[in-house]
Amino acid sequence: MKDKTFLMIPGPTPVPERVLLEIAKHPMGHRSSEFSKILESVYSDLKYVFQTKNDVLVYTASGTGAMDAALSNLINPGDKVLSLVIGNFGQRWAKIAKALGADVETIEVEPGKAINPAVLKERLDKDTNKEIKIVTLTQNETSTGVTNDVKTLVSYIKEHGALSVVDGVTSIGAMECKMDEWGIDVLISGSQKGFMIPPGLSFLAASEKAWEVHKNCIRPDFYFNWSTNRKSVLDNSTAFTPAVSLIAGLKVALEMMKEEGLENIIERHTKIAKALRKAIKAINLKLFVEDESIASTSITAILPPDGVSVPDIRKVLKNDYDIVVANGQNALKDKIFRMGTLGFVSQRDAITAIGALEATLYKLGHKFEPGKGVATLIENLNK
Ligand SMILES: Cc1ncc(COP(=O)(O)O)c(C=O)c1O
Repeated sequence: MKDKTFLMIPGPTPVPERVLLEIAKHPMGHRSSEFSKILESVYSDLKYVFQTKNDVLVYTASGTGAMDAALSNLINPGDKVLSLVIGNFGQRWAKIAKALGADVETIEVEPGKAINPAVLKERLDKDTNKEIKIVTLTQNETSTGVTNDVKTLVSYIKEHGALSVVDGVTSIGAMECKMDEWGIDVLISGSQKGFMIPPGLSFLAASEKAWEVHKNCIRPDFYFNWSTNRKSVLDNSTAFTPAVSLIAGLKVALEMMKEEGLENIIERHTKIAKALRKAIKAINLKLFVEDESIASTSITAILPPDGVSVPDIRKVLKNDYDIVVANGQNALKDKIFRMGTLGFVSQRDAITAIGALEATLYKLGHKFEPGKGVATLIENLNK
């Protein structure tokens, strides 16, 4: 049976019916009072999700657009940027900074590991002339399923005086990310992740300190210009024609997030991801990230068993069960597969996915005790 596609990738993520129905309506004029009311609600609720008093800018662009918006409003050519890289998305910060003419240094770790805060502290302590202006980091590295300790890392960056620029694309809504309390200077995210709407929007919030640095940015980007976009936020409008239907859907999605409550949302993600990891091990599969303390609550990377290939697992899951899981990226392509548990995800989804994964592995000849994954999952979901 087809047409029952279940996306278990780390974005785009499934979209609730309430949101889909809202998006399906006729588009409205972006200068209408009706749309302005929607924006008022969206701008306010985004602050709740970002855990900030700062204005949250909304761009009609994917997550990378917001990454570009972050750095292109801060960097002047020659500025020293330190990029903490634990995978593809951390590397993307470094690439953007380089493209903007920054002098980029990286601290890199092997895939599957997180940044050791002590290593960052040591590097920042050495920078007695305060040459490092910006430190970029990724809270949840989607390519490996590793979560950095952003709270501690940001506290060291703050102590040093540089700006912290954080990618919260697959972390916001799935794990704690307290922009103001932790002192994050720039935080970005994307719509097709924890926000439960399709791709096409991204978000950015900046601290007062970051706004001050922005004032001295000689050539900020035109479309992504923070000042232009904030002016519109302040009068419940947008600088340019936005993706109106997505924003209408976002209003509903944010209302759903508020109804559930951020703490409960995070607890739901944590419970499902932890139980999923136990279930994976119970069917004799290895997790790519063995250290539970850095394992993501939004994405789990799994090694295929001996004799079974990642493309075959993905093919059977798609063809027989209409479930889509992600491949590894770049060097990890065909070495791992990744299951997303992000956004509009429920216990039922996890039970279905583990059941289907068991059936898939059974068909592909992997040796395990059928049913043990689902039983382990249920046991852990009920703890
Ligand atoms: C952590 C992270 N950062 C940035 C991005 C880039 O977002 P987009 O693909 O929406 O441009 C992604 C996409 O998956 C991501 O997972």
